[in-house]
Parts: sequence; C-alpha cells; structure tokens
Amino acid sequence: MDTKGGIKLPKVTIPNVDSFDVEEGTKLVLALEDNGVDVLHRCGGKAKCTTCRVEVIEGNFGPLTDIEKDAFKRKGLDDSSRLSCQVRVHEDVTVLPLKTASSTGLDPGPRPEK
Ligand code: FES
Repeated sequence: MDTKGGIKLPKVTIPNVDSFDVEEGTKLVLALEDNGVDVLHRCGGKAKCTTCRVEVIEGNFGPLTDIEKDAFKRKGLDDSSRLSCQVRVHEDVTVLPLKTASSTGLDPGPRPEK
C-alpha cells in the first residue's frame, strides 16, 4: 500500500486488466468506474440489482453485510461474491468484476453515490 500526503492508497488489481491506487475508504464500484473498469451498477448502488458483483480473489472487505445477504437471497445467488456498491477499499485487493458493460452490452446504470 502506498501513501500520498499521509493518505493511505490501497491498490486495486483486476487480473490481466489493470491495477491502480485509490484513496483509502473509496467505494469499490466507484474505484473501478473511475479507473476505466466498466462494471455494471444498474440500480445506482442501491443493493437491488446485484450487477455490480465482484469475485474477491485477494484481500478483505470485512464480513458480508446484511444488505448484501438480503440482495443475494432475493436474487437466488450464493454469497461467494461481494456487491461493489456496498464495500469500501481499506487494503490492497484483487477483484474480478462479474458483469461489465462490454461483456453484456448493457448500459452501466446511474452512478452510485460516494
Ligand atoms: S446492487 Fe445494484 S449497483 Fe450494486
């Protein structure tokens, strides 16, 4: 992890795509989008669509939240992934976005709030 002016800059890595530093605490979906990864976020970060899911390959986002559990249950998904609109980057992580605009042909959706 690098620092800049005393601010921690954890590294986000997308295997075979890119890696970039983000300000500690950045919402993952925005870290991805603002660094050129066209991850979907069709509900605008409201934990409704689950299109922002990422597989976590390395690193930790803390325990699965109740909001994520509810969203996965509603969609009939197992809880092996994370909702990038519900987690923040606090350490170096390696993640694989599961649905992107380029892989699905869909519009990414409204920008989630910070
Ligand atoms: S669940 Fe819809 S953007 Fe995350």
